[in-house]
Amino acid sequence: MTTTTLTLTQPQLLAVQELLARYRHKGSAELLPCLHDVQAITGWLDAAICTEISRTLNVPLVQVHEVIEFYALFYNEPVGKRMVRVCDDLACFLAGSQEVVRACANRLGVDEHGGTTADGEFTLEVHPCLGRCEQAPYLMIDHEGHGNVKPEQVDELLGEKR
Ligand code: FES
Repeated sequence: MTTTTLTLTQPQLLAVQELLARYRHKGSAELLPCLHDVQAITGWLDAAICTEISRTLNVPLVQVHEVIEFYALFYNEPVGKRMVRVCDDLACFLAGSQEVVRACANRLGVDEHGGTTADGEFTLEVHPCLGRCEQAPYLMIDHEGHGNVKPEQVDELLGEKR
């Protein structure tokens, strides 16, 4: 668990409060959608917001943390405003994903194991299967997928974003 604290703007705070009011007492069946919705506003989930979600839904706090730890798409530490996810699962690995990861890391100036740019704009994440194995190697920039990616395409793909 991170010790960093989430800093929300006033509009973000209001949006989270409104959202949580809709999830009040809904129970564990609504935990995943609630986490998705809150993270869509806040970018990541700190200890305080997890406690608030736990209280709102009437779900044990430990369960909230377990779900966040289990699913790769939830973050318990700060991430960039934009996400670059490169799959390195088997099909993508065999199709050369490591070269794509290296090209992304070089372009963004972050570690090849992933990381966030110094300006907080981008996070590179080396990711388990993204469900597009037939298009390996596959990456996503935010919600936009790109298949059969070659390392020499990375500058252009990220250049449009950066
Ligand atoms: S192994 Fe890369 S998308 Fe499935």
